[in-house]
Amino acid sequence: MWKANFKILMTVVMTLGVFTVVSNIIPQVRSAVPELIVINADMTPDELAAIGENVYLGVGGCTACHGLGTRAPDLLGVAGTVCTTRDPELTCKEYLYESLVDPLAMIVEGFQPIMLDQSRTLGQPELWTLVAYLESQGGEITVTADDISGALAAAEAAEAVTVTEAAPMNPGDIDPLNLIAVNGCLACHAMDGEGGEVGPPLGDLIGQDLAFIREGIVNPNASIAEGFEAFAGTMPPIFGDMMSPVELDVLIEFLATGTVGAVSGEEESNEDGN
Ligand code: HEC
Ligand code: HEC
Repeated sequence: MWKANFKILMTVVMTLGVFTVVSNIIPQVRSAVPELIVINADMTPDELAAIGENVYLGVGGCTACHGLGTRAPDLLGVAGTVCTTRDPELTCKEYLYESLVDPLAMIVEGFQPIMLDQSRTLGQPELWTLVAYLESQGGEITVTADDISGALAAAEAAEAVTVTEAAPMNPGDIDPLNLIAVNGCLACHAMDGEGGEVGPPLGDLIGQDLAFIREGIVNPNASIAEGFEAFAGTMPPIFGDMMSPVELDVLIEFLATGTVGAVSGEEESNEDGN
């Protein structure tokens, strides 16, 4: 049990790290000082929903799209009611969870499929606190201790998998196309005729300055690409944290040159040199 608690604490500490970065980038989202939160299976529904609210307003990044008008459906005050009407096969809690981890399973009419699988950036316990919070918006909270302890067990199992697949440290072992795929860049950007039109085509980045591309990924809201002002704030400012520094270098080199393997293994010594 101490092990599970330790992991939760680690999740929380990491969450707060990201939270701080995000709240610095978008100060209007939330300026309150984050509190240390530990999620456990004994919490009451209201306690879970309160944590979910923090995730929603903070690290979850949900307010980059929701609550701003036409980009994404309104959730506050209505999510707990709407969830009972969407899919007759699913309970409210099942529908809301599905909306978070498989947002393309059911696209709300009148909206674009721009929402990403939130389990890429949030742990299972955080996802269930979000479900509790969304249920509290016009409905009854049915998330239980079982959902949370199941999520904690799953989080532990997932961790075991990540450990066996340690991130490659040698640039030559990293495939930039794979990074583009696992990070979901093509949900919004086109490449080689595939992908979305929410952001500029990735091919337009060929020949651009490395620092410019890095800024576009790590700090996407600092400057908005010309012609895409309508989608300002859509690109989540999380990719810099989701990739290792070496992965980020490889991806940026690839985007700037359009060629795989632009960073060779020999250039690794740069790391100590500067
Ligand atoms: C990039 C923009 C974006 C972000 C970020 C985002 N969403 Fe969404 N979300 C959408 C859009 C657009 C839809 C409607 C289309 C669809 O169903 O996928 C949607 C749909 C939903 C729905 C289904 C609503 C309904 O009426 O059935 C839920 C629930 C939801 N989002 C919750 C969240 C939560 C919680 C977060 C933060 C963890 C989040 N979203 C982050 C854009 C976003
Ligand atoms: C949810 C949609 C979305 C996802 C996912 C996304 N982007 Fe973006 N991106 C955008 C939008 C919209 C813009 C234009 C607005 C802006 O500059 O912030 C943009 C801008 C950029 C820019 C700046 C381009 C310029 O000319 O200023 C770069 C570079 C970029 N994205 C790379 C990426 C990479 C690489 C990934 C995957 C790791 C990615 N994006 C994932 C939506 C997205």
